[in-house]
Amino acid sequence: MNAKDRQYGFQGGEFQIEGCRASDLAAAHQTPLYVYSTSVLLDRVRRLKKVMQGIDSSIFFAMKANPAQKLLKLLHQEGIGVDLVSAGEMARAERAGVPFSKMVFSGVGKTAEELETAIDRKIHSINVESTSEFAVLEKIATLRNATPLVALRFNPDVNPKTHPYISTGLRENKFGLTRREILALLKSNPKTACRVQGLSLHIGSQIQTLKPFDDAIRKAIELADEIEKKKLGRITFLDLGGGLAIPYDGKKVPSIEDYGKLLQKHFGPRSKNHGRFHIGLEPGRSLVAECGSLVTRVLYRKDREGKHFLILDAGMNDFMRPALYQSYHGIHSAKKRSGKTEKIDLVGPVCESSDCFAKNRVMPRGISEGELIVIRDVGAYGMSMANDYNGRPLPPEIWVDGSKQIVGRKRGKISDFWRDET
Ligand code: LLP
Repeated sequence: MNAKDRQYGFQGGEFQIEGCRASDLAAAHQTPLYVYSTSVLLDRVRRLKKVMQGIDSSIFFAMKANPAQKLLKLLHQEGIGVDLVSAGEMARAERAGVPFSKMVFSGVGKTAEELETAIDRKIHSINVESTSEFAVLEKIATLRNATPLVALRFNPDVNPKTHPYISTGLRENKFGLTRREILALLKSNPKTACRVQGLSLHIGSQIQTLKPFDDAIRKAIELADEIEKKKLGRITFLDLGGGLAIPYDGKKVPSIEDYGKLLQKHFGPRSKNHGRFHIGLEPGRSLVAECGSLVTRVLYRKDREGKHFLILDAGMNDFMRPALYQSYHGIHSAKKRSGKTEKIDLVGPVCESSDCFAKNRVMPRGISEGELIVIRDVGAYGMSMANDYNGRPLPPEIWVDGSKQIVGRKRGKISDFWRDET
């Protein structure tokens, strides 16, 4: 949280989002509900754009982090495109008004139909992840007389030192092509229909130091050099992926400005590679995580010998990260409380022991039934991973923008459960 986010926090003893009280939002829309601060979002976006000044670059938001129409429209107004991984995401982005020329297509398992659509729509570029995928793409491009821009996803074998489920840049991970595979692919396809002018990287997510990014970028530049030296082509597009961490637990992580300095070192006006590549970025979390909160109510309190539980009306279906990755999220009561503390488990109503947002969390003592609780930093991989497990409709999404409150998405309906069933 930086100084600009001061409207997002406690004011007058209550948690507010741009001056909008959590209790008013809960009264108007019921709980659980996702609420987003537009100003926090725009702050992150504008800071990233600023640090990229002087570098020929494009930002493609990794929309898997949050594919809300409202968000995609806001980002589009800021000149940002999307990184997508399916025809479904492509359609969502198209509907939000994102031009095809601002879409890059990533993903380890694109279908032939999806590749056809990407070629027909003339999207910015396709990030190819395997030799077999390249063969399918090549066939489609040849048949259609098309010349899509291709970025080969390079797996640089660097350790991002993050949660194993969100680490992607190691040889043992399923993602991308190794240096050897890329060289072999270029060698065996000298007359390809595709414009194989790009390399793409994405080594993992929630990466908490700059070193892995630095190593991966260096290896990618070396590979681009090698490709040119061996006369296998010329790389003019370098897509660096996403992965920058946010400070979920308050510990310091590299800021957007620190990340910018690294990119300026490699590609800025004073660097040796300045002007050599068009740089693509695919940030997800670092742009949208911090703008979102999940507001939930305590249904029940359970006190048994030596153990206390708050049973919330939000569950792992509404917000999966803690259940899936044991991830830490700041959690607090919507009313400022001080005084004595106690250790307590914050759990959801879903019939799974993994439906737990925090274990033995130190919280103010005596939070009681009916109180509102706020789970922080849920704007990325929150609603996008929500589901209706246990017959629980999806929560609504509210965007706060100064004095305006906009319902981005209404609460799911129970009748939707069987809508598509026969
Ligand atoms: N580009 C590609 C090709 C990706 O696969 C991803 C994320 C991104 C960009 C964006 O990465 P970010 O800037 O958000 O770190 N559900 C997990 C995260 C999965 C990330 C998947 N790929 C979580 O909640 O932590």
